[in-house]
Amino acid sequence: MKPIQVGLLGIGVVGSGTFNVLKRNQEEIKRRAGRGIEIVQVADLNVARAQELVGPDVTVVSDARAVIANPDIDIVIELIGGYGIAKTLVLEAIAAGKHVVTANKALLAVHGTEIFAAASAKGVMVAFEAAVAGGIPIIKALREGLTANSIQWIAGIINGTTNFILSEMRDKGLDFAVVLKQAQALGYAEADPTFDIEGVDAAHKATLMSAIAFGIPVQFDKAYIEGITKLGAADIKYAEQLGYRIKLLGITKRRQGDATKGTMEGIELRVHPCLIPAKRLLANVEGAMNAVVVQGDAVGTTLYYGKGAGSEPTASAVIADLVDITRLHTADPKQRVPHLAFQPNAMSNLPVMPMGEVVTSYYLRLRVADETGVLAKVTGILADAGISIDAVLQREADEIGTEAPATQPQVPQTDVIILTHDCQEAKMNEAIAQMQALPTVLEPITRIRKEELA
Ligand code: HSE
Repeated sequence: MKPIQVGLLGIGVVGSGTFNVLKRNQEEIKRRAGRGIEIVQVADLNVARAQELVGPDVTVVSDARAVIANPDIDIVIELIGGYGIAKTLVLEAIAAGKHVVTANKALLAVHGTEIFAAASAKGVMVAFEAAVAGGIPIIKALREGLTANSIQWIAGIINGTTNFILSEMRDKGLDFAVVLKQAQALGYAEADPTFDIEGVDAAHKATLMSAIAFGIPVQFDKAYIEGITKLGAADIKYAEQLGYRIKLLGITKRRQGDATKGTMEGIELRVHPCLIPAKRLLANVEGAMNAVVVQGDAVGTTLYYGKGAGSEPTASAVIADLVDITRLHTADPKQRVPHLAFQPNAMSNLPVMPMGEVVTSYYLRLRVADETGVLAKVTGILADAGISIDAVLQREADEIGTEAPATQPQVPQTDVIILTHDCQEAKMNEAIAQMQALPTVLEPITRIRKEELA
């Protein structure tokens, strides 16, 4: 049978990896897919460089629309990225009856509803294994392998750049800004790392996993997002002393409502730094590696670990999608695996909850004047708010207070660290505001959420 014909839009790091792996493993891939898979046309603005990468047998053009208009092409791979021209081209490819493979998490997290609807109407597939956690087949696992389960929660380290930075901060006791500079110099972090360090990239990926796990539409705009830029070396050190590590987690959870506690039913979708027990496997995922834990009611806890970025790891996911499409493209579209795992007419309207409704536990660090009764006032505020304390760590008073500027009290100061049990975020916000107003609390209170992941 004639090989399936593929057009590639954008041949950068992942595109060239895809081309090379497809070529290197073509015989094995053909034995799995049932027919050959060939990239026959590439669109890239740098035609000369692209031609050099793919050799003389592949047509290279600068106009992506020439690939979409090519009647011989069955599948278009979009590796341009972003929400701009990539969105237009993906919709045009769908309209032209092409199946689409993309690694573009930003595009699908924001415009997925429109793109999947267009693909379903046209009877084509949009596959995106490479969009979440690079080479880890987490989309396949959630959509197919775990299909028997009612998924309860997912927690993942789904951004390698930030995990690298946090690992270095912990290993070397350095602050965020110092490690970021080193990471950029080493090429681990982008020149503009905003999407990574502010948690946006992780939120794109968490949004996609949440939609697939719970059968809700993609709702990136409802995700709570907090990055790692404000984390200090001191908090990483205190967390360690208490038996925890700090990781940037993408978390999505199904929450049953409880009328007696006034909590609502819905889905939590959040990205933020998080204390997790040091003994959990997830806490020991170091450097730029990714890992995702999925809790299902039947299977229990499962863990997926691997490279979340890079040329061939991401190509591995792109090619898995090509093989899936090759096997299924002649099947009745209704028999294919739905884009978001659930049939489009059976999606849930469970709301993504506002952050104030989220229930979690907390690490608090308060810089206080080391005076009699300070701790009693702080714990009193928490008790009045119905927030239960799990542990308290108080360092010996240090000398900073005696050297403080005249505007600060000339008394010894100390850090008080409090771990709480679960409570509603809105209650914690109120308690923090009250504690912050105490004259003996000298600096903005640090609050980091904590998950036991039990
Ligand atoms: N920038 C991402 C990361 C890789 O650091 O994990 C691509 O999603």
